Amino acid sequence: MSLSGDAWTWAWRDWEDEDRIRRQKEKPVALEADELARVAANEADWDARAPLHAASAFYERPAEFWFADYEWDDLGELGGRDLVHLQCHLGTETIAFARRGAKTFGLDLSGRSLDEARRFADKAGVGVEYVRANVYDAGEALGGRQFDVVYTGKGALCYLPDLAKWAEVVTRLLKPGGFVYIVEFHPLLNSLRPVGLPGESDELVLRHDYLEGRGAIAHESTVTYTGDEVPGRNTSYEWMHGLGELVTTLSAAGLRIDSLRESEVLQWPRWPSMVQTPEGWWRLPDEAPRIPLLFALKATKVS
Ligand SMILES: C[S@@+](CC[C@H](N)C(=O)[O-])C[C@H]1O[C@@H](n2cnc3c(N)ncnc32)[C@H](O)[C@@H]1O
Repeated sequence: MSLSGDAWTWAWRDWEDEDRIRRQKEKPVALEADELARVAANEADWDARAPLHAASAFYERPAEFWFADYEWDDLGELGGRDLVHLQCHLGTETIAFARRGAKTFGLDLSGRSLDEARRFADKAGVGVEYVRANVYDAGEALGGRQFDVVYTGKGALCYLPDLAKWAEVVTRLLKPGGFVYIVEFHPLLNSLRPVGLPGESDELVLRHDYLEGRGAIAHESTVTYTGDEVPGRNTSYEWMHGLGELVTTLSAAGLRIDSLRESEVLQWPRWPSMVQTPEGWWRLPDEAPRIPLLFALKATKVS
């Protein structure tokens, strides 16, 4: 086929436009300098915590323990699927995906966490490819690979300073038809007072923001959630993200929301009054109001 002069010009312009759009889409997703500084502080914090976590009884449980029963229904058959677990920490859950036959990558900011994750995967006899990167650089760090499933959560979203930029990263990581599955502590849980102080009742009391928008929250505690004292622990940072913000951000990034579950169970007893479920998770007692403590969101990249 030959093209006339005008047709060439138009074909060339179309190509230029497509190329510009493609390059625009591939532009790295950059955080602001102050956000990067806080992410660096969090990296140091997770590096300090990782060996303590790896040695703790908290993380001794089998990989399957960490999953709510509905997660496997939502995730479907994983055999042969390309899956990346973002912010995978010690890879305790990541191992479960590899066991179910997924071609599994785990990504985390903390090199010390990934040292432990590799050790756990070796011990479990499963193959997982671990990559150290800030999640905002995941596209590049994973060599432009795309996945059928992007999994994240259980203490991950609170470390994201910018949800819109993160949603852009997640969308680029997905193959057309692929989905992101986010299983996360409910923002309502984060806004409730953690535990009754001595002399206080076990009542549920709102203490912190539910909604996003007030920037980074600095944490000064020297003790990590496994109960270990972290020697020389420095300030770490978290950001609140309400459910409305999450849903709206994912759909603005071009994803179709398939399901949003809210459930009343947690993997550990956040309040002393909680009762254990037959699966070994925890829920509030019958006399307490029924409130969501965990949520699971599935969203698909339709094209
Ligand atoms: C609570 S853990 C992840 C939850 C995991 N389900 C668990 O319980 O082990 C949070 C992880 O997020 C990682 N992280 C925090 N900010 C990150 C970022 N900007 N990019 C990549 N990983 C990040 C930390 O290094 C840490 O390993």
